Amino acid sequence: MSLPINEGISKYISKGRISFSMPGHKGNGVIDGKNLFKFDVTELDDTDNLLSPQSYIKESQNKLCNVYGTVSSHYLLGGSTSGIYSMISLVACEGDKIIVDRFCHKSVINAIILRGAVPVYIMPEYNYQFGFTGGILSAEVESAAESNPDAKAVIITSPTYYGTASDIVSIAKTVHKAGMLLLVDEAHGAHFHIADDFPDSAVKCGADMCVQSVHKTMGAFSGGALLHINTDKFASWQIEEVLSMYHTSSPSYAALCVLEAAVLNFAELKKRYIPILREIDKCRALVNAEAKAYWVGEELLGGCAIHSMDKTRIVINFSKLPITGYAVADILRKKYKIEVEMADERNIVCIATAYNSTSDIKALAKAVLAITKKMPIKTNKTDDFKLCSPRIVTNPRKACLSPCETVDMADAVGRIARTIVCKYPPGVPLLVPGEEICTDHIRLITDTLDMGGTITGIEDNYSINVLK
Ligand SMILES: Cc1ncc(COP(=O)(O)O)c(C=O)c1O
Repeated sequence: MSLPINEGISKYISKGRISFSMPGHKGNGVIDGKNLFKFDVTELDDTDNLLSPQSYIKESQNKLCNVYGTVSSHYLLGGSTSGIYSMISLVACEGDKIIVDRFCHKSVINAIILRGAVPVYIMPEYNYQFGFTGGILSAEVESAAESNPDAKAVIITSPTYYGTASDIVSIAKTVHKAGMLLLVDEAHGAHFHIADDFPDSAVKCGADMCVQSVHKTMGAFSGGALLHINTDKFASWQIEEVLSMYHTSSPSYAALCVLEAAVLNFAELKKRYIPILREIDKCRALVNAEAKAYWVGEELLGGCAIHSMDKTRIVINFSKLPITGYAVADILRKKYKIEVEMADERNIVCIATAYNSTSDIKALAKAVLAITKKMPIKTNKTDDFKLCSPRIVTNPRKACLSPCETVDMADAVGRIARTIVCKYPPGVPLLVPGEEICTDHIRLITDTLDMGGTITGIEDNYSINVLK
């Protein structure tokens, strides 16, 4: 009997690529020769219960509180997704308003749909030249809070997929002054407490709750994440209740053991980051000296509400050259055996972690220089990136519960979206259920597909679900 998944993944592994994608362990995590099957136990008298911890899981989570300085911290095996569902369930019931960064991950929208909450969108600042989001201005949050004093909470994404972080200290003050809670999707910042070079972590800056995907930037198995609670507003039974709503009742203790080691053995990572960060600085200077591609860095600080940046999120911009980020990613994969995390029209995004080596970073820089060396600089100026502003017609949950039909993309303009449509990655919705579809959406979807990107939420690449 053939095992198509096993065979497919084995074939992929045998290619031996340099990984700048998730998971953060890059296949280099060490498990001390343990047979992980032996660790895959269930909830027994002697093995504690992740969803109602009493003994050593509780002890380990208490250690997390000390490391992160939180009221409580919780291991998640369903990714930041399960933590986002839990945070939103704690703050919002049916009909409750929640102020939401519209460039959030789709899990935030799914949580809002599940709870029947009413989103009030705020827009992050956008760098139209490079084509990615910066941070969120505290003034934007303040104005939304003033217009919606009945909102229960504000949820923002910081850092973004592109490694840009907002001024959370200032946003937290604004949110608390309005009597609301601040939730931060810090899925891409699980490593922030490890080195001084990184942005401050959300809980340190005053967020009431945040989630972190340990599998994205540290050494957990995929799905390993943390939920941090930094307020005493919720009783432990309420937290346990929401966590168990979104978790399997059979969590993998083998994955839990790896997750614990990934976050609590961080002293070793601190050491490993030193040469990595040094190499990133060196390679960035090398690539930028050539001045064709631009390895994004501190020059962007202060603009577009970017308060701080994660150096390990390597974003290289190709706006000046007649090539897309998608094409560069393709060449890197095929010719240089380098796997990036994500590409878009103008950039490639690479995740470097403590499990990469300095030679990985050197190889990336060398390959980018080789790819761009003979390329002519574009003579015509690249148009500024265009965004579609959302036009909300119906509440997302109501839209999801309404009768729908599938129509050809060309006939979808003016109709109301039924399904979340995203570029994936990063999974930021282009369309949220209940929003009107306009020509710009269709252009963005078709352009992305033409350039080799992936869009989720459409059928066979040319039809889309709309309300009847
Ligand atoms: C900003 C952001 N938030 C949340 C998530 C979901 O994280 P997870 O995959 O850990 O569930 C992602 C996933 O890519 C993300 O990019």
